[in-house]
Amino acid sequence: GGPENFIQICVHNFLSYVTNIPFLQNVFSNHQFLYSTVDTQFIDENPDLFNLKPTQNRAQKLLHYLGHVMVNGPTTPIPVKAKPSSIDPVIPPVTMGDPPVGFRDVLLRDGPEGFAKAVRNHQGLLLMDTTFRDAHQSLLATRVRTHDLKKISPFVSHNFSNLYSLENWGGATFDVAMRFLSECPWKRLQELRALIPNVPFQMLLRGANAVGYTNYPDNAVFKFCEVAKENGMDIFRVFDSLNYVPNMLLGMEAAGSAGGVVEAAISYTGDVSDPMRQKYSLDYYLQLADELVKAGTHILCIKDMAGLLKPEASKLLVGALRDRFPDVPIHVHTHDTAGAGVAAMLACAEAGADVVDVAVDSMAGMTSQPSMGAIVACAKGTKLDTGIALEKVFDYSEYWEVARGLYAPFDCTATMKSGNADVYENEIPGGQYTNLHFQAHSMGLGNKFKEVKKAYAEANKLLGDLIKVTPSSKIVGDLAQFMVQNDLSRAEVEERADELSFPLSVVEFLQGYIGIPHGGFPEPLRSKVLKSLPRIEGRPGASLPPMDFKALEDGLRATHGDEITPEDVMSAAMYPKVFQEFKEFTANFGPVDCLSTRLFLDGPKIAEEFEVELERGKILHIKALALGDLNKAGQREVFFELNGQLRSVLVKDTVAMKEMKFHPKAQKSIKGQVGAPMPGKVLEVKVEVGSKVEKGQPLCVLSAMKMETVVNSPMAGTVKAVYVTADASLEGDDLILEIEE
Ligand SMILES: *[C@@H]1O[C@H](CO)[C@@H](O)[C@H](O)[C@H]1NC(C)=O
Repeated sequence: GGPENFIQICVHNFLSYVTNIPFLQNVFSNHQFLYSTVDTQFIDENPDLFNLKPTQNRAQKLLHYLGHVMVNGPTTPIPVKAKPSSIDPVIPPVTMGDPPVGFRDVLLRDGPEGFAKAVRNHQGLLLMDTTFRDAHQSLLATRVRTHDLKKISPFVSHNFSNLYSLENWGGATFDVAMRFLSECPWKRLQELRALIPNVPFQMLLRGANAVGYTNYPDNAVFKFCEVAKENGMDIFRVFDSLNYVPNMLLGMEAAGSAGGVVEAAISYTGDVSDPMRQKYSLDYYLQLADELVKAGTHILCIKDMAGLLKPEASKLLVGALRDRFPDVPIHVHTHDTAGAGVAAMLACAEAGADVVDVAVDSMAGMTSQPSMGAIVACAKGTKLDTGIALEKVFDYSEYWEVARGLYAPFDCTATMKSGNADVYENEIPGGQYTNLHFQAHSMGLGNKFKEVKKAYAEANKLLGDLIKVTPSSKIVGDLAQFMVQNDLSRAEVEERADELSFPLSVVEFLQGYIGIPHGGFPEPLRSKVLKSLPRIEGRPGASLPPMDFKALEDGLRATHGDEITPEDVMSAAMYPKVFQEFKEFTANFGPVDCLSTRLFLDGPKIAEEFEVELERGKILHIKALALGDLNKAGQREVFFELNGQLRSVLVKDTVAMKEMKFHPKAQKSIKGQVGAPMPGKVLEVKVEVGSKVEKGQPLCVLSAMKMETVVNSPMAGTVKAVYVTADASLEGDDLILEIEE
């Protein structure tokens, strides 16, 4: 008798079944087994034990993923030739028990208005920490995984309870989580919320674009805010990339009616301290602020996304806003691209700002936010004292310094060695500055980054000097790259505007897809580019029919099964294709978010042993044993030990299978040969052999990085030959098709 004895018998008799974990689970949950004596008759008397629930088989899927990475390398695109560091960050100790009371407790008790009052009445300078969002969006291509955020969360909750907020969501994190990290952005929010109950969470909301790049129907923006609030989001920083007020009002209303704190943000460009720059003057900003305060924003934000706010301009702008709105808390966001961030934020605080944005030291500087430690130290003992102990910042910074090493394959410092004050001229937002740098490299334009920056400034002028932040910044960037690729000056673009194949984003901007820029659209450029294309009047989202969430949900259930949550529906509403691919990836490869970052990116080394925690208490012990030889089908068998048992997976070796393909180049000297204007992937071929085409007619749509470009016909004629199909990858100048007069 007795369980030990029973297990022995069981193991002897059922060794062949004991791969059979569901069977053992049934045994261990059997009442008789647990609470009375059992003997060898036990199994015969309990046929229920063989009612086996299928395992979810997450383990096998993860082995498949690891095998895949071992054979083919990372599944996520790696911009830098660097391996994740082999050192794990040390997690600073935290005592058990509830964390201290924070501003979130004030918010939950007093609501958004009460919260705003408490912020305004607070003595000293408050900080928002961007380490969980903008810092890694600016420095590490947004790649920081929930795994590494969670580890430091208890420390943040206990030691940084006096932060105004922690920015941890919105912007690119939503998209990148699914697209490149294969993890659910909502799960990230839920898990961080559970670990940090006392500090308000803040997100970025692109007005009517929510967390996407296009306009969504109004009800989608409202629903999005509602679900975000339910999942623990507190403060919504609402902006519009053109400061287009109708778009902003919609976002503010959506955040407000969800019960969130509304933080309307004025996107800042130009230089209010420079009398030569009149388009974005102090007056312009004050008028905008009037409208946002009138619309009931709880907090007023200045979003200096490129880091253009100099100390003198800070004094003028914040000083004027403080005078005009004595009761409204002012929150300033900046980037440290030029290196003047700390000086500017201190000037803002002096002039009356209540909150400024910082990132922890090891994740600060350059295109990220100014250093938390520097500001804490500079404010110490003054009337701006943050009340944060520097020792805490040191511990926090040390964690990130080492954790950052895990993301070496994405770290912009691989190529970018310093900030650059040329940002005052090109006005490129921090995150985009890094992206353009990466893009210039991956498209073979590495040595041309300076040219891209110059072109960016020129493209901005061509488009009428815009506010530049996602998505308007991407439009300017697309145009800049197009100019560099095709070796076009501003004057040439203006002159030849009616015959050039502009990037789709530029065309759509001119059509009015993202709203109306301050000062209107550039003419005659707009008319020349658009010709007879339709133009949108007023707020773009206003003309969209409401989204049918029920139909969307039904569709998702039909494709992915019944475990679709309201959060999934919102993911699909924002990024339908990315969500679809994320679900397919997870169905194949399981919950890869449970893997450590090194395993996720690089896979295990042969003979490496490690643990993976699937959920609390559910731990897999894995050892990577061997890589098999390439078989005739181009596959390799990868061997593992999983919880002591031999397992293997078959993985297609895509590197070995890849054959070299040569593609003919378009000859400029041969009339009618149409080449790819830049490297990219073919999305769609719009004509076939024999098609009659007009001059300027779209022939083919290309996608390069995130930009779509339509290739138009340079002449009228008949298509003689087509050299590409959808999905083909092209280098610059690869021959697309030939046209005969
Ligand atoms: C962080 O907070 C914990 C309390 O949970 C404390 O034990 C620890 O000393 C703090 N760390 C620093 C650097 O103050």
